[in-house]
Amino acid sequence: MAIERTLVLIKPDGVMKRLVGEILHRFERKGLRLAAVRMLNVSMETAERHYSVHKGKPFYDGLIDYITSGPVVAMVLEGDGAISVVRKMIGSTDGSKAEPGTIRGDFSMSVNFNTVHASDSVESANYEIPIFFGEKEILEYRTPDKDFI
Ligand code: RTP
Ligand code: MG
Repeated sequence: MAIERTLVLIKPDGVMKRLVGEILHRFERKGLRLAAVRMLNVSMETAERHYSVHKGKPFYDGLIDYITSGPVVAMVLEGDGAISVVRKMIGSTDGSKAEPGTIRGDFSMSVNFNTVHASDSVESANYEIPIFFGEKEILEYRTPDKDFI
């Protein structure tokens, strides 16, 4: 697999449920490298850019209202096959159907308030990361243990 970067958002319900540390901890323990992290209130403009692929769908307006309703924690995670690894770790979209052991499976009962977002492809990651981070905010470093990236 190739080293990939993926965008993860801890959504407003994740922040409200005080899950920021828990979720970051899971990604760190897995061996993904935290390359950038920032807490922010998502503006309407940023929300519309980020979710432009869903414009026109029945759930679009609710999705925009929700992602702009409170602070999120945005991060870039890096690692071998990081995009699919992170998608597996977050679980399927509807928290009530997501597998136990996944983030949504453990912390959400909802499709609307499903705690985390993660890029679903290289194309999505390349589109989403620059919405939240400038190139200089994404840090290049190596962890000392050769078994980690
Ligand atoms: P995300 O983009 O947030 O990581 O979620 P996802 O890939 O698992 O799901 P996606 O199809 O991209 O949908 C984006 C968000 O829209 C809401 N949604 N609601 N009511 C519905 O049928 C429905 N479908 C999607 C979810 O909050 C989902 O996270
Ligand atoms: Mg998606």
